[in-house]
Amino acid sequence: MTTKPVRVLTGHRPTGPRHIGHLVGTLTSWAALQSEHECIFLLADLHVLTTDYQHPDRIRTNTLEVLTDWLAAGIDPEQAAIALQSAIPEHSQLALLLGMLVSDARLRRMPTLKEAVKELNIKTSLGLLTYPVLQAADILLYKAILVPVGEDQLPHIEVAREIARRFNLFYGQTFPEPEALLSSVPRLPGTDNRSMHTSYGNAILLRDSPEETTRKIMGMYTDPARIHANDPGHVEGNPVFTYLDQFDPDEAEVADLKARYRAGKVGDVEVKMRLAAALNEYLCPLRERRTKLAGQTGYLMDVLRDGSLKAGEIARQTFNEARQAMGLILAKELDLKP
Ligand code: TRP
Repeated sequence: MTTKPVRVLTGHRPTGPRHIGHLVGTLTSWAALQSEHECIFLLADLHVLTTDYQHPDRIRTNTLEVLTDWLAAGIDPEQAAIALQSAIPEHSQLALLLGMLVSDARLRRMPTLKEAVKELNIKTSLGLLTYPVLQAADILLYKAILVPVGEDQLPHIEVAREIARRFNLFYGQTFPEPEALLSSVPRLPGTDNRSMHTSYGNAILLRDSPEETTRKIMGMYTDPARIHANDPGHVEGNPVFTYLDQFDPDEAEVADLKARYRAGKVGDVEVKMRLAAALNEYLCPLRERRTKLAGQTGYLMDVLRDGSLKAGEIARQTFNEARQAMGLILAKELDLKP
């Protein structure tokens, strides 16, 4: 890990099973980064509590499920560290310190906060308000340079950058300013053409069987203006074609289907069947890996333990440095821990 100069940190909130939107939007690009960079992938289970604190029974299962999906998608624990946020107390501890450097007004203005409150119909707890501060701690704790995220996370990265600058200004150069690394793949719509969300019932999950996948594809939203198979159809904004562009490697075939669709010379059923075949083919290696992982809780725990120990070492160093810089020097002098 030490020979790779650029450190990358990113993570997911383990709220439920991952879907094909996560796969093409984030997981595939994470997997591509891990051989070149020192990567830490964080299962941000503390962040889950900011919205789902009423369901403590779900977190363990969801976290192991997300880990399984990550590994099936090609995240390699030999190359990257996979860390459990709640197992490394320095995340919470650094968040408390960094909280001194950001105003409540700044946090109240976050678009992500407004959206969560509106979408989930919840109140702004102190925990939810400080979500971006905890995320800044996740990033700065590892002095990460690059943070691969979706566009929706940019406001959070900006807060992390501001906090890093303020910290450095007050206490001396400590944290590099992290930079967001945006995925080049545009967001995949859900099967109903809204944004893809496990809770909307419009997601194709990585754990779905080929049959389940085909069933979901056959029920997909297409061109609502098209009533008969020989009506000219719309390709743009039609999620069936967005998926085909993403998952069917046979470009000539996709071009042909589009031309025939526009001319009213192919029915939705045929296009969807072609898509189902292409997607199932695309998911084949992932499913093979996933089948091997099923029931391997011992192995999953080893992966988490290993990654959390590795990450924890870095976290402890940075936290001590930050605590000292902020003047809390007596704690170290006391030297309570062996
Ligand atoms: N907030 C991120 C999301 O919802 C998850 C996350 C938590 C994260 N900590 C992070 C992402 C640190 C990048 C870096 O997707």
